[in-house]
Order: sequence, then structure tokens, then C-alpha cells
Amino acid sequence: MISIKCIGCGAEYPVNEIIYNCEMCGDLLEVQVDEKALKKKIETEEWRLRPISVWKYKEFLPVFDETKIVTLREGGTPLYRCDRLGKELGIKNLYVKNEGANPTGSFKDRGMTVGVSKALELGVKAVVCASTGNTSASLAAYAAKAGLPCIVLIPAGKIALGKLAQAMMYGAVAVGVRGNFDVALQMAVNASKRVGLYLLNSINPFRIEGQKTAAFEVCDQLEWQVPDRVVLPVGNAGNITAYWKGFKELKALGLIEKMPKMVGVQAAGASPIAKAFAANNATIEPVKDPETVATAIRIGNPVNWKRALNALKESNGTALTVTDDEIIKLQKLLARKEGIFIEPASAAGIAGLKKLIENGEVDVDETIVCVATGHGLKDPEAAVRACEGIIEIEPSLEALEKVVKS
Ligand code: F0G
Repeated sequence: MISIKCIGCGAEYPVNEIIYNCEMCGDLLEVQVDEKALKKKIETEEWRLRPISVWKYKEFLPVFDETKIVTLREGGTPLYRCDRLGKELGIKNLYVKNEGANPTGSFKDRGMTVGVSKALELGVKAVVCASTGNTSASLAAYAAKAGLPCIVLIPAGKIALGKLAQAMMYGAVAVGVRGNFDVALQMAVNASKRVGLYLLNSINPFRIEGQKTAAFEVCDQLEWQVPDRVVLPVGNAGNITAYWKGFKELKALGLIEKMPKMVGVQAAGASPIAKAFAANNATIEPVKDPETVATAIRIGNPVNWKRALNALKESNGTALTVTDDEIIKLQKLLARKEGIFIEPASAAGIAGLKKLIENGEVDVDETIVCVATGHGLKDPEAAVRACEGIIEIEPSLEALEKVVKS
């Protein structure tokens, strides 16, 4: 039987209970899949041949009524082999998983298709989230598709334009909170308890279930080989948690033989997890006023810090920080070497890989997958700021010729 289990004290709850934290000890909750039952279900040729998508792996997901599935065809994103960038960085087998190719342009759609389907199954009346932008864009879209009213709490003036446009266009009630993401998340948690809104931040265990399918896809796309390292930008730390859970489930089922090292990268101005990891601390010290150009990961008190530290330690991985300057340089490099346009937060991950390579911590032959979490058009203002401006000319061939020659 699938159940929900506390990651701290191990208390178990029925999978159809609306609950975000353990009632006994307050710790985070995690869906426990029934490995035995699962093994039987996926031992079919039909399963392997299904095209990749979040719902290819429906047997791994805690949604039981298929009529309640809310989908915009998420997942199935490309895993690009990046030889030109790899050469520049000095490694031989570099891949980028382009999560910007999801319906609303970020990996959040994986979690939302499962979370909002579950919301319908549970019969909730309205949904809420706090967000640095992508979660709100994604929830707004899936709530629209599901016909559920949606409220998103965003740090006022601090979310990228594309994300704001999405949340508003999909019809969410957008509330700008005068405070940062951490403050907005606390309000969303309180609102879910007091006003009865269903909370769809990554504290919700069903979000993690959807997001773990990205790890399944990576292995599927590498013909069930496992990369040596998986590199991710880390904010609230749900995604690194989800990937690690995904790899662990595949290993338990015997679908993969080894495990990758997880690499978590944070922006220098918002790096409580990387700092705790470096100091070998068992807990994080929240950052009061997080700041970075990568607004998606401008988070000082990540709720999933404990699971992220577990993933880093269990996988023999590592965490590190990168500066805003390093982030923007890498964003441009990826676009110009590979034709992949990602937002600054996504570039943080690959900027971290560059640093690890420069520090001699990576073997040139390793197979490395970097997760490009969000599309570059999410933050057009950051992109325009980072580039060389346009050259304006009179409408004459002579003027154009001058430009070409220069
Ligand atoms: N990359 C992008 C583009 C994101 O939007 C986020 C998180 C992350 C990385 C970090 O993922 O939080 O699971 O560690 N964005 C959230 C939001 C917080 O509200 O959209 P994480």
C-alpha cells in the first residue's frame, strides 16, 4: 500500500489525508511507494516502450483515479548532448536536460500535474502557493485546466516579468507580498491551515512525486545508464529531493545499478544549504535577506533543507555557491555554444559545474547531466541586461554594410 511517511519519526498517514507536516514531530512527509506491487506492474514490455512523459511512470505516482488527471503534456523534455559546451568546460560527456520545454516553461509542471490531479481527487475547492515565479505560473495553468480557483503569493517587485505575465494570464489571483519568498511561504502555509486552501508548494509530498519523474526520464534517455553526476540549482530544495528520491526508487526496483552523485548549486547571496554542507553542519542557518540576480532561487530558509542535505550526503555529492556574475556568464555561454536559452537560476547549476571542473573535482570522462530548470524567456529583462544591446541604423544598405564590416 502507498502511504505518507514522516522523514523524521517515521509516523505513517493514509495517502488520501490532507496533511503537510507530521502531526507527531512536525517534520516533512514523503510518499512511500509499494515497491513489491510496483515491480509487478512495470515488468512489461509495454511499459518500457511508452514514450517518456510524467505519466509514462503513472504506476509510480499516487493518483488512483485516472479520470482526475489534469495534464498539459508535461515531461518528455529533451536531454541534449552538449559537445561544444563540454569542450569549452573540459569534459567529454555533458548533457543538459531542458526542463524549459515543459508546458509553462519550467520543471514545476511535473509536480503540478500530479499535485493538481491529486487536489481534484481529494475534492479540494481552491489552491494556493507562494512562489518566486515559476511555481505560481505552473499552478495557475494547472488550476485553470482543472477549473479550480487559485491564489499565488509572490514577493512584490521581485519576480521575473514572464512568470508574472503567466500567472496573471492564466487567471490566478496574484498577491504581491511585501517581503521575500520565505515570508510569502509562511503566509501560504498559514492560509492553507486557517482558510482551507490546498497548498501546492514543495512541502506538499505529491509535488515531489511528480518531479521525481525527471530522474526516471534521464535514465530512460540514457538507455538505463546512470550519469556519474546530476547538477541542479537549489532554492527551496524540492527538486534535488525529488531527483534523489527518483533515483533511489529505480535502484530499489533493480532498474538501475548505480547511483549518481548529486551536486547542488546555490547563488552566493542565498546559500544556506551550501554553507551548511561546507561546514558539515546538521542543520542550516537561514539567510535573512537573500539576494541574487537568479530571482527563482532567492530563498533564505528552504523548507526542504533536511532532505537536500540527506541527498548530498547519501549520494557522496557536493554543494557549492556561484556569484551572479558567474551565473550570467554561463547563461550566455550555454545560449551561444548550444542554442539553449535558460533563465539565470538554471544557469547557476552549470556555473557550479564549471567551478568544480576548474577545481579539479571532476574527471574528464564522467557523464554529467545538468538540469536546466527554466526557460530563458521567463526573465527577458535579465537577458537583455546581460547582452550587448542592439545596433540601430538608418534604413540604408550603406549603414548595414558598416555594421557588417565592423
Ligand atoms: N530553478 C528554477 C527556474 C526555479 O524556479 C526554482 C524554484 C529552482 C531552480 C529551485 O528549485 O526550489 O526545488 O530547489 N522555484 C520556486 C518557485 C521556488 O517558486 O518557482 P527548488
